[in-house]
Amino acid sequence: MKFFVDTANLDQIREAQNLGVLDGVTTNPSLMAKEGITGRENILQHYVDICDIVDGDVSAEVIAIDFDGMVKEGTELANLHSQIVVKLPMIKEGIKAAKYFSDKGIKTNVTLVFSAGQALLAAKAGATYVSPFIGRLDDVSTDGLHLIAEIRQIYDNYGYETQILAASVRHTMHIIDCAKIGADVMTGPLSSIEGLLNHPLTDIGLAKFLEDYKKGN
Ligand code: E4P
Repeated sequence: MKFFVDTANLDQIREAQNLGVLDGVTTNPSLMAKEGITGRENILQHYVDICDIVDGDVSAEVIAIDFDGMVKEGTELANLHSQIVVKLPMIKEGIKAAKYFSDKGIKTNVTLVFSAGQALLAAKAGATYVSPFIGRLDDVSTDGLHLIAEIRQIYDNYGYETQILAASVRHTMHIIDCAKIGADVMTGPLSSIEGLLNHPLTDIGLAKFLEDYKKGN
């Protein structure tokens, strides 16, 4: 399972990279705004800065919602750095753009996916990643993990190579459940990844080992 961190915060991206288990980064316009990154030039430079920190794929989202605009913007993003993945919204024009980029060998991430039918379309368009938002589904009393399982089954039925990128992960248990279902990738805050480290018996066991070592030395 690949681990992506879902943030535009460079310190957190560095920290995740230093942990040694990071496979990529996802961003979105809200996450960029949260870091105060505004203006086209600054936004483009920020994507390059992120790519310089991590080794893997970095999703950069288009703002345009028409096909021509998505192609223009996505091409500009893809030309920024070899690690950039063009992130496209799950709308009709987004699917057309995913097909366009896929035919050109440019990686894409179809985002804002909330149903199995949307995920099927993304796969047929040749998207590299599909991003079902599990936390936002949970927020409206709908089982986000069930959607991951549905997409897994559909993709396996037909051998689609589009990777299921479980997005809107909110906590550690989401990661474990997605891993059990077989999501290819998860993206979430650094805290959700670091949560995997914790177990009280580890802390108790380590304290005892150190205490016993001190007795004999
Ligand atoms: C995915 O690529 C999105 O950036 C993200 O996971 C959305 O998460 P949120 O629902 O916590 O905003």
